[in-house]
Amino acid sequence: MKFFIDTADLDEIREAESWGVLDGVTTNPSLYAKIGGKLADFEDHMGKICKIVGEDVPVSAESTAKTTEDMIAEGEHLAKIAPNIVVKLPICAESLAATHQLYKEGIPVNMTLVFSAPQALLAASAGARYISPFVGRFDDIGEDGIEQLATMVQCVKNYDFGREVEIITASVRTPNHVTQAALIGADIATVPMAALKKCLAHPLTDQGLEKFEADWKKVVEG
Ligand code: G3P
Repeated sequence: MKFFIDTADLDEIREAESWGVLDGVTTNPSLYAKIGGKLADFEDHMGKICKIVGEDVPVSAESTAKTTEDMIAEGEHLAKIAPNIVVKLPICAESLAATHQLYKEGIPVNMTLVFSAPQALLAASAGARYISPFVGRFDDIGEDGIEQLATMVQCVKNYDFGREVEIITASVRTPNHVTQAALIGADIATVPMAALKKCLAHPLTDQGLEKFEADWKKVVEG
């Protein structure tokens, strides 16, 4: 499974990048607002992210346009920031049409806010390169996000769309979301930094390290 980081924070992106595990970055309007992002700096900021991670690493930049024409225009504009920009569009009739056009132009789209298998299939059919189901938000309303993800992954994997389509497990909150997404065979998990750090940690690793260090001290001190 590939690890993306779900953040617009440059320091977090640099840190995850330094671990050598970063396969992509996803951002959205909420994540950009969270870091105090200003409208005038948006493109510059996306450009900085693209530069940090390098040209082979996809960076999702979300369009807030409302009509198909505006989504296409904004998508074309965003795609000019860097070769690794992926245009993120929330699923609706207008964005399906925009996705189809952007696909024909060779601009990759990440279709977001996907909550059902039919939505995922429509996104794939329109030409989306990535599809992002939101696991945690299902849990928030008392549904099983992982079960929903499994259904969507299975439905999409049942078909050959004639091009690569990857499922990004989004709205990831816990290491268990990552484990379950990997068991299901979701291609990617986009994980916020706090959850990524939880994925790295284990109390038995800490205990084991303490014992190694204590025993090595005995060796060194004879
Ligand atoms: O990847 C989507 C994500 O940013 C939404 O996460 O925690 O706001 O549901 P959350």
